[in-house]
Amino acid sequence: MSPMWWQTGTIYQIYPRSFQDSNGDGIGDLEGIRQRLDYLAWLGVDAIWISPVYPSPMHDFGYDVTDYCGIDPIFGSLESFDRLIEEAHQKQLKIILDFVPNHTSIEHPWFKASRRSRADPKRDWYIWRDAAPDGGPPNNWISNFGGSTWAWDAGSGQYYYHAYLAEQPDLNWRTPDVRAAMHEVLRFWLRRGVDGFRVDVIWHLMKDAAFRDNPRNPDWTTDAPEIDRLLQTYSTDQPEVHEVIAGMRLVLEEFDGQVLIGEIYLPVERLVTYYGTNLMGAHLPFNFQLLNAAWTAPHIAELIVRYEGALPQGGWPNWVLSNHDRPRIAARVGPAQARVAAMLLLTLRGTPTLYYGDELGIGHVEIAPDRIRDPWAKREPGLGVGRDPSRTPMQWDASAFAGFSTHEPWLPLTPDYEARNVAVMSKDKTSILCLIRSLLHYRRGHAPLSQGGWHLLSRESDILAYERRNGDDRIVVVLNFTADPQAWSGPLSTKARIALSTYGDRRGDFVGPAVSLRPNEGLLIEQA
Ligand code: NOJ
Ligand code: CA
Repeated sequence: MSPMWWQTGTIYQIYPRSFQDSNGDGIGDLEGIRQRLDYLAWLGVDAIWISPVYPSPMHDFGYDVTDYCGIDPIFGSLESFDRLIEEAHQKQLKIILDFVPNHTSIEHPWFKASRRSRADPKRDWYIWRDAAPDGGPPNNWISNFGGSTWAWDAGSGQYYYHAYLAEQPDLNWRTPDVRAAMHEVLRFWLRRGVDGFRVDVIWHLMKDAAFRDNPRNPDWTTDAPEIDRLLQTYSTDQPEVHEVIAGMRLVLEEFDGQVLIGEIYLPVERLVTYYGTNLMGAHLPFNFQLLNAAWTAPHIAELIVRYEGALPQGGWPNWVLSNHDRPRIAARVGPAQARVAAMLLLTLRGTPTLYYGDELGIGHVEIAPDRIRDPWAKREPGLGVGRDPSRTPMQWDASAFAGFSTHEPWLPLTPDYEARNVAVMSKDKTSILCLIRSLLHYRRGHAPLSQGGWHLLSRESDILAYERRNGDDRIVVVLNFTADPQAWSGPLSTKARIALSTYGDRRGDFVGPAVSLRPNEGLLIEQA
C-alpha cells in the first residue's frame, strides 16, 4: 500500500496572529497566509496546520471559541478561508485546522444557555457540580493556568469546570448531544475541503465520572506551575476518551480519511494508546518528547528507541520540535545545535512538524512586561511559563516591521530581524533557512527518509548516528551534539558520500572509513 500524504509529508504549524498581516492592524490573518503560500511551496512543506481562527474573545488567543463554524473578523471571513484553501490546494498544500472540542468560550451561545438555569436543555452540555459541604469547589483539581478548575456561578448556584481559564468552560462529552453537535462541526469543515484536524488537548476530553480528588505530586516544587502540584490521575487520560476519539475518527472516515492529529502530553507508554484499538484513534498522536528532552546524544537515542519500540503495529510515528506553547528549539539548545536539531527532525522516521519561524532560527525573544499578552504568563508571573516569546511575528525582510505588517505588530520582532529574515537568509546558502529547505526537498526526494526504516548505529556519548533504509537505498545520519570536533567510524561503504552538511558545504565529498565532524555538525551521508 502506498503511504498517505500525512505519512510522507511535513507539517508546518502557523500561529495565524503572527504569520502575515494583510490589513495593517499588526495581527496576522488568513489573507496574509494566502499571500505567503508561494513561500511555503518554495520551502518544501506539504501541509499547514493553522492554530484557531474561529470567532473568539481571544482570552486565550482563539482557544476560546464562540462559533465553531465561523472565522473571527480579525482573521478574515469564510470567503477568505475558502480562497485560502482553494489556492493552497492548487499549490499542492494541505490545510489542517485546529479543532478545540474540550472547551468553548464563556461567550459561546451554548454556555450562555447552559448557565441560564439548572433546567435549561443545554445544562448538561457543560460540567456543573454542587459546592462542597463547606461551600468550596467540588474537588481539588487545578487549572492548567493555575487556581481551581471550578468557577462559581452565582446565578444558577453551582460550580462549572474549566481545565484552562474560567473563560473556557469545559464541554461535557458524556452528553450525546454534545458529541453530535461537535461531529457536525467536523463535517462542516470537511465539506469545505479541509485535509484534517489537530485536536486541542484531546487527552482531556473525558474526566473521571466521580470527580475524585487528584493525588499530590511528590516531586512538585514551588518554582513549577501550580498545575504540577497534583498528578492528573482523574482529570485527564480516562479510558472512556478512546471511544470519543474513535467517534471523531468515524466522521473523518465518512469523507476521504482526512488526518486526525491529537495534542497529547503523556509519557510514551500512555501516548501510544491514542492510536486507538485497531488504529481507529488518532492517526498521529503528537509526539512531544523532543520538546523537553535533555540535549545529549545518548538521551535522544534512548527516547527514539523507546518510542519506536512502543508504537503499535502499523502506528505511524511523528516528531515535533517546537510549538506555540513551549520555548522554541533555538531558545532551548542554542543556534548551532538548532541546525543539528533540524537535521534530526527531518531525518527521523515519521511525520515531522515544523514550527513557523524555526526555519529562521528565531530564539528566545525578550518580552517587556508591558507587552506580555499570554494569559498564563499573567496568571503565574515569574515562573517563566509565558508563551509570548514563541509567538512573535514571522520575519520576511529588513523593512520596518519585517514585512510582517505596516503597523507595530502585536508582539515584538527579534532585535536582529534586519538580518534574520526570509529575504536575507534565502540568499545565504549557509543559513539555517537554506539548510531546512535543503532537508525538506531532500526528504521529499528520498524514500529512505520519507518512508524507510530506522536503525540506530551509534549512541556514543557525543554522537548520534542512525541509518534510514528503503530497499537497497541507505542513508546514514551522523549528528555531533557537541561544540567540539569529533570523529566517528561506522559501517560506511568506501564510496559513501556526503549529501548534506548542516554547514551547507561538503556536498559530494567522500567520507572514508572515519567521518570527521566539525563542532555542532550534522551530516547526511549516502551509502553507495
Ligand atoms: C493547548 C493549546 O495548544 C494552548 O495554546 C491552549 O492554551 C490550551 N490548549 C487550551 O486550549
Ligand atoms: Ca490583520
